[in-house]
Amino acid sequence: MSVLIAPSVLSADFLHLDREIEMLNESDADWIHVDVMDGSFVPNISFGFPIVNAIYNVAEKPLDVHLMIDSADCYLEEFAQAGATWLSVHYEACPHLHRTIQTIRDLQCYAGVVLNPHTPVHVLEDIISELDYVLLMSVNPGYGGQKFIPQTIEKVKKLKKMVEAFNPDCLIEVDGGISTANAAEIIAAGADVLVAGNAVFKNEDPKKIISDLKKLG
Ligand code: DX5
Ligand code: ZN
Repeated sequence: MSVLIAPSVLSADFLHLDREIEMLNESDADWIHVDVMDGSFVPNISFGFPIVNAIYNVAEKPLDVHLMIDSADCYLEEFAQAGATWLSVHYEACPHLHRTIQTIRDLQCYAGVVLNPHTPVHVLEDIISELDYVLLMSVNPGYGGQKFIPQTIEKVKKLKKMVEAFNPDCLIEVDGGISTANAAEIIAAGADVLVAGNAVFKNEDPKKIISDLKKLG
């Protein structure tokens, strides 16, 4: 399978989201990555259900909704209704992760768990068989445009071994500081899905960057 590219709309022009989503529709992007931040779990606030739903209404690609929020259980149904196809929650924010994952699956979404840079992959050993994907943060969540944390490469390799042993269908997604300069190494380590915010939307030819990233896989 070639690598999947999930541009993050956090770096898009919010005043012209329709144009930005139209660009993604015309591009080689596979998913549209949507970052939801609550100002509590992470020190930033992005947007909520109306924006996710507005994106969904014009998007021709599945929405990959990354919840950086506390009390995610209270909001899963609304994000599913707003249009999430892929829905991920943070390991660090979910004390009853197994139940949360079952709820996401009951809502007919693909279920993912996100690990912060300091969280080791072995914490997923007893839940990996239940997951459709794991998202490894390669920056501290909260902001676009940060620098890729190099230790992520080893984490991807470790996770790849776990996935191959216990759930080969589980996808590995990596998020933060990804560009054409480091994407090949991340893919070689075992990543199936790359998120890219600034690299795509701050470039004068976003569609070309998306194709360039895709060609690396
Ligand atoms: C960070 C978000 C990322 C962010 C990535 O908290 O989860 O999805 O938008 O942006 P870049 O690619 O600019 O690091
Ligand atoms: Zn994200």
